[in-house]
Parts: sequence; structure tokens; C-alpha cells
Amino acid sequence: MPEIIAGRDWKDMQEFKSKGLLDIGKNIVGTGTETHTTTPIKMDVLRPHIVTIVGKRGSGKSYTGMVIAEEICKLPENIRNNLCVVTIDTQGVFWTMKYPNNKQRDLLYQWDLKPQGFGVEEYIPVGQTENFDNADIPYDKTFSFKPSELNITDWCYALGFEQNELEGILLSRALEKMEGNYSIDGIAKKINEQDFDEKIKLKVENMLLNAKKWGIFSEKGTDIYEFLKPGKLVIFDVSLFSGGAGWSVRSLIIGLIMKKIYEARILARKEEEIATIEDLNKKRKIPLCWIVTDEAHNFVPAKGSTAATDITLTVIRQGRQPGISQVFITQMPDKLHSDVISQTDLIIAHRLTSQRDINSLKAIMQTYMLYDISKYLDELPKLKGTAIVLDDNSERLYKTQIRPRQSWHGGESPVAL
Ligand SMILES: Nc1ncnc2c1ncn2[C@@H]1O[C@H](COP(=O)(O)OP(=O)(O)OP(=O)(O)O)[C@@H](O)[C@H]1O
Ligand SMILES: [Mg+2]
Repeated sequence: MPEIIAGRDWKDMQEFKSKGLLDIGKNIVGTGTETHTTTPIKMDVLRPHIVTIVGKRGSGKSYTGMVIAEEICKLPENIRNNLCVVTIDTQGVFWTMKYPNNKQRDLLYQWDLKPQGFGVEEYIPVGQTENFDNADIPYDKTFSFKPSELNITDWCYALGFEQNELEGILLSRALEKMEGNYSIDGIAKKINEQDFDEKIKLKVENMLLNAKKWGIFSEKGTDIYEFLKPGKLVIFDVSLFSGGAGWSVRSLIIGLIMKKIYEARILARKEEEIATIEDLNKKRKIPLCWIVTDEAHNFVPAKGSTAATDITLTVIRQGRQPGISQVFITQMPDKLHSDVISQTDLIIAHRLTSQRDINSLKAIMQTYMLYDISKYLDELPKLKGTAIVLDDNSERLYKTQIRPRQSWHGGESPVAL
């Protein structure tokens, strides 16, 4: 059967043929009453990619992100075991991937698919187990960080002050004197010992002690190699951080996870290179990693920075080298850092109405767009899960119906009736 392959260049198509492809949907052809779906649309995962999924509220973005995750789980073992997926769940809805999508059973049958749950592992912050237990939300494991894993920049972003403000200077002085595996209490004590303005000391000490309530710290911290296992899919539930500080804590978590993955993959890459020189058939010990981030404009915003910004930009600029792929999901591409869009090689654009958001996508397509992208978006049938796939590798664009999910989608908007 003919198929459209997004994200793969001509050379790789010849070499890999139908290997390492995700079945994400079908091509939509015709307009008006003539509209129908035809050729399967597939997506390459043998090479690293930066994918950005955009669309207005309720258009199917998170759903599409999870179709990609499902498809990675369904790859043949020899390929799947060279990959792992880390998803950052800001709304606490991805855990439902464990359960079959019985709700859309009829639709699935039309696609020759069956409802099916997938083996994912849900990690929650170590200090939030009680909240999850009380809400009867299942989880598998907890994650945490050692306070010593945060540098001064991480702390300043997370606590909300500048490094060159008095608060930042004080904290920096205290951190410089810390040694070994220290605790938050240890930092607070060190702050207390500094020769500094007493009011500022009290303020920073207090803020630090409050950070213990985030529930993300422990003496041991979680070993990153626990997540980076062949074929594994993990979900980090970071939904339960409320209030204004919520996004800074989430950004801190994402930044720290990303840093660990990046370092692990850089190390692995070196080992792999040595291994390839010695033995061409050696398998990867640390799989290539796909990181899926929902509501990404909060972590890598167009204006300002967060604790996740620097490392995310480093990863997307160099990601192909260490083998890290990223899927950014956002309702507001206009609010996403421009480097994310310009480094993206696959855009999946669901319905978008704001001209500003549409314009922000043009960064990667100017060279080959014959028509205004608005024309294609207007032509999309007003159905859930329709999108335009813009493939910068082949410089082509496809109207697509994303396939229904086999596992239960947890992001449904509540109905008042
Ligand atoms: N490909 C699809 N096939 C069938 N139904 C779909 C598809 N994509 C989305 N839907 C339906 O649309 C609903 C909304 O999708 P989703 O939760 O992904 O929206 P969203 O764009 O992430 O919205 P938000 O911006 O609010 O997070 C889903 O609950 C599902 O019922
Ligand atoms: Mg969503």
C-alpha cells in the first residue's frame, strides 16, 4: 500500500524502507462533500526529531501527543528497545493510557484498531503520595531530587528572584560553601551563618524551608537510569502544584529531568561511538529518548526564561547529536520560544484561529509554502483530530486525520449536563 512518510529523507527511505515508522493517521483529500481519507501517514522515529503540536483548545493536541506515545509502544521490540519515552503531564491526565479506550470503540473499529491499554509507569513527586491516595488516582512510583542537584540558577528561578539581587547573592554565597550531599535544612543553616542583612537572611531561609513543601526533595534523589530503560514509557505527573509558584516548580522539575537525560545521553553517545568502532552490532545500553511536554509555552516561553529554558534550548540545538527527540505541545505557538519553532522539523497543526499563532508557524515553512498556511487550515474538516502535518524534511505538507487513540484519553472537558 502506498504511504506518506513524514520526517524521513530520501536516503533513509531507501535504506530503512518501512522500518521504524509510527502510524499516526491518514491523508485527507478533496474538499467539501468530496472530503475523504486515503493514504496512511507515517512518522519516522529512527532519527531524532523535534515535533511541535499546536492547535486551539480542545482541537486534539494532547490526544495526538499520546497517539505518538502509543505508537512508540507498538513498535517491534528490536526498535522499541532502542527508544524510551518520558512524558511531562501538566494536567494529570496521561495516566489513563493504562486503560483501553472503550469510549471510542466504534471509531477504532473503523480504523481496524482495538481498544488497548499500554504499560506505562506513572511517577509522582515523593511528597504528594497522600494527595494522590486521597483522590484515588493510581500511580506507580515516586520521583525526587537531591537539593545538591540544583545550582544557583535553578534555585533563583524556582524561588522567583534574580541572581544579582541581594537574595540571590546571599543564596549563592551559602551554596558555594556547601559540600557533599546536603539537605535544605543544611542550606538554611549556612544562610544563617552568613554575615548579611538579617531581614534578607530570614526571608531566604523561610523561602527555602517552604520549598520543602513542594515534595520533590529527598536525601537520595531518583536515579535517572531508572527512567532511561529500553522500551520504557514514563509519565511524570506534575499537575498538583497550585498557585503562582506552580509553573516555576514544574519548570524546575522539567529542567532537572532534562539535564539528567541530556548528560546521560551525552555519556552514552561516547560509549556507543567506541562500541561501534569495536563492534557494529552492539545494542544501545541507554535508549534514545523521546520527551513529550504538554503546555510547552510555559517552560520555554517567547519572553523571559524559566528553570527549563536553557537546558531545553541546548537540547533542541544539539539534540540530534545525543539522540534526544522532543514533542512540544502548545495552544499558543506565538508564546513559545522562537527557537523551538525554528528547530522543529515536524509540525502537527490542529485548528488554529488566531492570525498571530498562524504567523508564528511560518518560521519553518517560508521556503516551500506555495499558499498561505491559513488556506490549508481553513480547508480542514471541522472534526476532532484533523491537522496539517508540515514536514520540513521533505518540505511538504499533508492534511491529516489523526487516528483514534487505543488507550483511554483523560483530557476530556467536563460537561455540565
Ligand atoms: N484524532 C482524534 N480522533 C478522535 N477524537 C479525537 C481526536 N483528537 C481529539 N479527539 C477528541 O477531542 C477531545 C479533545 O482533545 P484534546 O484533549 O487532545 O484537546 P487539546 O487540544 O489538548 O485541548 P486543551 O488545549 O484544552 O488541552 C478528546 O477528548 C477527544 O474526544
Ligand atoms: Mg491538552
